[in-house]
Amino acid sequence: MIVIIIYNTATGNTRQIAKKMREILENHNHKCDLYRDKEIKDKVKVDPQYFDLYDLICLGSCTHGNRPAKSFNKFMSTIENYDLAGKSLVCFSSSLGPEGWKETCKEIREKFPDMNHIGNFGCVSKNYDSTIRNFEELVKKLN
Ligand SMILES: Cc1cc2nc3c(=O)[nH]c(=O)nc-3n(C[C@H](O)[C@H](O)[C@H](O)COP(=O)(O)O)c2cc1C
Repeated sequence: MIVIIIYNTATGNTRQIAKKMREILENHNHKCDLYRDKEIKDKVKVDPQYFDLYDLICLGSCTHGNRPAKSFNKFMSTIENYDLAGKSLVCFSSSLGPEGWKETCKEIREKFPDMNHIGNFGCVSKNYDSTIRNFEELVKKLN
């Protein structure tokens, strides 16, 4: 599969998850691009076809106020009307409380109802070991 991971972070925890996800995808022979949202937002904004080549899109943000960070919500609003129907979606997040990342993933997922949502992955602060193990279980099932 060809995969893109896009994340937002304030203190680096969500970036750690994103990097581990890329490592796992590459270990399983998937091609994976990884960007912080602000690195690619200008390119994405002017190119509705930007995601055409990707089979799986992984979107992740730190949790601020039990939802994605404001700048990530802005990034998502740029792409929420792009034709992403049928592409697979993974949501991921990091939070301080045990429920925060789930709320963030839920909000990301709800922005893309036409996508094929295949999983939410999150953790409290830097405790991502089991999150990454769960992600690897999913990746093993991908073609
Ligand atoms: C402004 C702000 C708001 C936050 N709001 C929440 C929250 O509502 N719920 C929660 O569980 N954690 C909250 N946190 C904690 C972060 O989500 C948590 O530290 C996370 O691991 C940070 O990820 P990052 O290192 O990728 O920025 C907040 C942190 C900040 C700075």
